[in-house]
Amino acid sequence: MNTSDTLTEPLAQLRPATTPLYDRPASPPVATDTGRADLAEAEDFVRLHHREHPDQPQPLLTRLLEIRRQIHETGTYRHTSDELAFGARVAWRNSSRCIGRLYWNSLRVLDRRDATTPEGIHQHLIAHLREATNGGRIRPTISVFAPDTPAGPGPRVWNEQLIRYAGHRQSDGSAVGDPAYVDFTELVRTMGWNAPGGPFDVLPLVISTHDTKPQLFDVPADAVLEVPLRHPEHEWFADLGLRWHAVPAISNMRLRIGGIDYPLAPFNGWYMGTEIGARNFVDADRYDLLPLIAARLGLDTGSETTLWRDRALVELNVAVLHSFTEADVKISDHHTESRRFLTHVAKEERAGRSVPADWSWIVPPVSGGITPVFHRYYDQADQRPNFYLDPEARERGRGHCPYADSAPGPTHRGGGSQ
Ligand code: ARG
Repeated sequence: MNTSDTLTEPLAQLRPATTPLYDRPASPPVATDTGRADLAEAEDFVRLHHREHPDQPQPLLTRLLEIRRQIHETGTYRHTSDELAFGARVAWRNSSRCIGRLYWNSLRVLDRRDATTPEGIHQHLIAHLREATNGGRIRPTISVFAPDTPAGPGPRVWNEQLIRYAGHRQSDGSAVGDPAYVDFTELVRTMGWNAPGGPFDVLPLVISTHDTKPQLFDVPADAVLEVPLRHPEHEWFADLGLRWHAVPAISNMRLRIGGIDYPLAPFNGWYMGTEIGARNFVDADRYDLLPLIAARLGLDTGSETTLWRDRALVELNVAVLHSFTEADVKISDHHTESRRFLTHVAKEERAGRSVPADWSWIVPPVSGGITPVFHRYYDQADQRPNFYLDPEARERGRGHCPYADSAPGPTHRGGGSQ
């Protein structure tokens, strides 16, 4: 018998029984504007923490009573650094759209809850990039900043990712750079950014806190590792002047741990090649490069049946994987990452846990059917802790006014890119 369960008995009488998190319907918790912690979720989380890490300095019951008292007195409670690290790792483990979860337990967690000024936050964000980049040996890392509390909301970064390329709208309606960020680029220009106008200009960060207006901060070039792209066989490929950044660091998702919202908790892993080679450079509303590459390859683009798109797509993905590997920057291919994911599922099942997964995000956008993740279904569940993308944050990340009366974008990966 599990002693921690015995210890919870008295508390079970103190509060109405709640449905265990894993049985709850898949509805993301809406961020509260009161900043009050949810007691039931807090208790579920602390029980989970003790179940998976029974060697705690404090008995479960003591911690539960302490949290109950803190919430009663202040409307919220403070996670221990152990709880914070565990919560962040489990949020990754529960991210049903992520194929790369095998290493969830080795996520590096930087506790930045005490940073309050935009300047201080900016320094920590840059430190995050440097530590995560690690000269190309990318380390999955998260920085957790102050949570929402009844005293006020936590800080925010408006950018979708810490590193993104600007999109410069041209007078003919086309864009130089990443078309996904033309509105965001215009927004930061109105805030004073001096846009260089090139295809790969790293956008400045917009940081806002409870008591400061949004402010711009540059990302120093030496904190951004980039890989110029070339192809192992086609020499002309390097002349296209393509490059991509080494670290994808999502900065607009809310981390929810034990009934507390952390609106700024940027996290990164390493890239899977297809994210760059089959989406960022390929989507019609991104760099849209297939026609150009097909032309350079001399393919017949007059008919779909020549499969010129598919052939150009494969060569582009070869170039991405080749360039990162040659530059000693960690990246993985979709075959390897698919196999790792199934290893993760098997490992989790051995530990008595199910792995919530969203098939439409897990299956790679290239060669789906020849990766093993294609040939099965997955459980879909909203398990907490987790990361959530709020509609306002999504809109801000694209440079749109979050309060405009516009419907949130589609959540299917066909519409999103995170
Ligand atoms: N797909 C996004 C991008 O290309 C990054 C999402 C997170 N990816 C990751 N490998 N951790 O920028």
